[in-house]
Amino acid sequence: MAKIIAGVGTSHTPAIGAAIDLGKMEEPYWMPLFKGYEPAKKWIADTKPDVVIMVYNDHVNAFDFKIIPTFGLGCAEEFPIADEGWGARPVPVVKGYPELAAHLVQSLVLDEFDITIVNEMQVDHGLTTPMSLMFGQPKAWPCRVIPLAVNVIQYPAPTGHRCFMLGKAIRKAVESWDEDLKVVIFGTGGMSHQIQGPRAGLVNQKFDKEFLDGLSSDPVRLSKIPPLEYLRDAGAEAIELVMWLIMRGALGDTVKELYRFYHVPASSTAVGSIILESRS
Ligand SMILES: [Fe+2]
Repeated sequence: MAKIIAGVGTSHTPAIGAAIDLGKMEEPYWMPLFKGYEPAKKWIADTKPDVVIMVYNDHVNAFDFKIIPTFGLGCAEEFPIADEGWGARPVPVVKGYPELAAHLVQSLVLDEFDITIVNEMQVDHGLTTPMSLMFGQPKAWPCRVIPLAVNVIQYPAPTGHRCFMLGKAIRKAVESWDEDLKVVIFGTGGMSHQIQGPRAGLVNQKFDKEFLDGLSSDPVRLSKIPPLEYLRDAGAEAIELVMWLIMRGALGDTVKELYRFYHVPASSTAVGSIILESRS
């Protein structure tokens, strides 16, 4: 049986990927951030997942404003790296798992989640930055990846509660796949940040800390945070945090927090990272 053994929450700030690609990891600005990710990298290198389900959002690269799926599941054999305006990042092509992805779609749709089947998709920094942070700079990614692109760009984003329930349904779908697989699910984006307007640069460390605490001890409370509260208290782009609730929902009721890291700033955002082991 396939099993979701753990979840990773992490920011996906594009400047982090650029810092890696341009060899700036040792520079004073970036060094504390990359040092903070070292234990997380070691954990995933030891854990060796077979499959990663990557919950992230596209930033108008794969999808323009003609069609915006709320939940788009990548069912392709592979996913090329998007050119976001300065050339595609020099990272390996992402290899998918079409058979398992098709199974997830079937299970989720029959569980009444309206998933969009995406058979062709480029992936942007929302997916590649977390891959680089956790797996470093290999010639090929060490596992297959099923991308789940969530719309948090165009109003209305799905609610935290909807995301939390989707995570639960993903857990059920994975466990009904008859192949021994270690699956790790990522929730990416956030934490508090606002990139435009008079409040640009907003960071709310108290909100972020309480969110990280809640992932460990009371995710149901987090699932009740209304969309406006993210925007008001933690910045317009903090709505990305609802994607972490898909990850948390997929871990079952009981988790053990294995690692946590929090750092401000990285390109005017707060960076958070957490690893939760499923104990259910
Ligand atoms: Fe983002």
